[in-house]
Amino acid sequence: MKPLIAISPSSSPSVLRKSRLSPYIFTLLAFTLFVAVLYGEDFMCMFDRELQLSSVSTWLLSTTERKSGEAGSLPFAIGTLEEGCDIFRGRWVRDESTRPHYEESDCPYIQPQLTCQAQGRPDKKYQFWRWQPHGCNLPSFNATLMLETLRGKRMMFVGDSLNRGQFVSMVCLLQSAIPEGAKSMETFGSLTVFTAKDYNATIEFYWAPFLLESNSDDAIVHRISDRIVRKGSINKHGKHWKGTDIMVFNTYLWWMTGLKMKVLKGSFDDEAKDVVELSTEDAYRMGMKSMLRWAQRNMDPSKTRVFFVSMSPTHGKSIDWGGEPGGNCYNETAMIEDPNYWGSDCRKSVMRVIGEVFGKTKVPITLLNITQLSSYRKDAHTSIYKKQWSKLTAEQLANPASYADCVHWCLPGLQDTWNELLFTKLFYP
Ligand SMILES: *[C@@H]1O[C@H](CO)[C@@H](O)[C@H](O)[C@H]1NC(C)=O
Ligand SMILES: *[C@@H]1O[C@H](CO)[C@@H](O)[C@H](O)[C@H]1NC(C)=O
Ligand SMILES: *[C@@H]1O[C@H](CO)[C@@H](O)[C@H](O)[C@H]1NC(C)=O
Ligand SMILES: *[C@@H]1O[C@H](CO)[C@@H](O)[C@H](O)[C@H]1NC(C)=O
Repeated sequence: MKPLIAISPSSSPSVLRKSRLSPYIFTLLAFTLFVAVLYGEDFMCMFDRELQLSSVSTWLLSTTERKSGEAGSLPFAIGTLEEGCDIFRGRWVRDESTRPHYEESDCPYIQPQLTCQAQGRPDKKYQFWRWQPHGCNLPSFNATLMLETLRGKRMMFVGDSLNRGQFVSMVCLLQSAIPEGAKSMETFGSLTVFTAKDYNATIEFYWAPFLLESNSDDAIVHRISDRIVRKGSINKHGKHWKGTDIMVFNTYLWWMTGLKMKVLKGSFDDEAKDVVELSTEDAYRMGMKSMLRWAQRNMDPSKTRVFFVSMSPTHGKSIDWGGEPGGNCYNETAMIEDPNYWGSDCRKSVMRVIGEVFGKTKVPITLLNITQLSSYRKDAHTSIYKKQWSKLTAEQLANPASYADCVHWCLPGLQDTWNELLFTKLFYP
């Protein structure tokens, strides 16, 4: 497996020239921003704090209910849940008999960024939690049903490394039901394809961290600073998504530069680039609208389903949950108990944009609102138990929190729950 995030200052000479920084300074700057992205939620929270989240969410929920209410006719539906049950409101319940769904060592497709046990994580408690909605029970994940449903079909995850984690989780949930030799995983540039041969089914992941074309689109060497996203460019990637039966989008973290977002009009090949700066919210709204337009033009609502996974929370600052200053998710083995815990405010303003855009659209898209339930799970990150791509310095080793990853999640773990919720919304909309 290749690193998901790598830094190559030589990957875009034109930007280098323009920036008039020496490659060395550029690398340093890039690295600083990279660290800032991973660990500094301060960087992400520089816009719009005052919100009426609750009114937005009530409105959005009623929209979603209305859409699913119209349809026993929704494709793939086989039943319904208790009337009005919001599966995203609930609590975590300890469950040692049915969790985890699989053993880390039994799923060969997990990349070494997420194999926490193999990378030395000493505790396992994070694997034994089940999500229990307040209003109903979740149906149990049935791999055979999922595979039968996917027979002759394509399911595709499109987005960033968090979506890749959810894709891998889905593959792990299904792969044990497929015999050796009848399954494979291959990568072609931005596209990774898991094939279940006997089912003629594929589950795919397409790397597009902004969904739109950007200068961060290389699946291996991503640009991590000075990001530019191109307006109106979703077909650049979207042409590779056509013919998909079940789409699962996400996009969030890469928009959170902490600065205004640079948006390119015209083409990346233009000599004189026409770049405007938008607030993070406005830029994100543009991305959401492009996604919905793409879905409207390319997905047949009578045969296909489209999902959007809300923001995956990070746990980079322990003061957010009343911990010691300077700490983060490192050494956290218990979840946050406060049911009202939300974390940093900027997630709310992004949630509001999602609510506004989804509330107005006629495109049937299902929101997987995993943000709140995941925000409790400071125990579930990969932390320092992931493959490190560069040699750690003595200084870092002396202070493990300094290199803990509080963005991504161990597998098996939290993201299996996201897929149980996807399973639920697919079959019991
Ligand atoms: C997402 O779910 C949380 C928890 O139930 C809720 O507080 C929030 O308002 C929801 N957001 C939307 C847009 O529905
Ligand atoms: C899982 O789904 C398959 C195919 O629909 C069905 O035959 C089987 O009974 C289901 N298993 C459970 C435990 O519900
Ligand atoms: C396999 O599935 C693809 C869609 O992913 C479909 O176009 C093709 O006809 C299927 N082939 C067979 C032999 O069923
Ligand atoms: C980790 O947390 C435990 C308490 O939960 C504490 O005793 C220990 O000192 C911590 N270790 C480090 C390295 O911070």
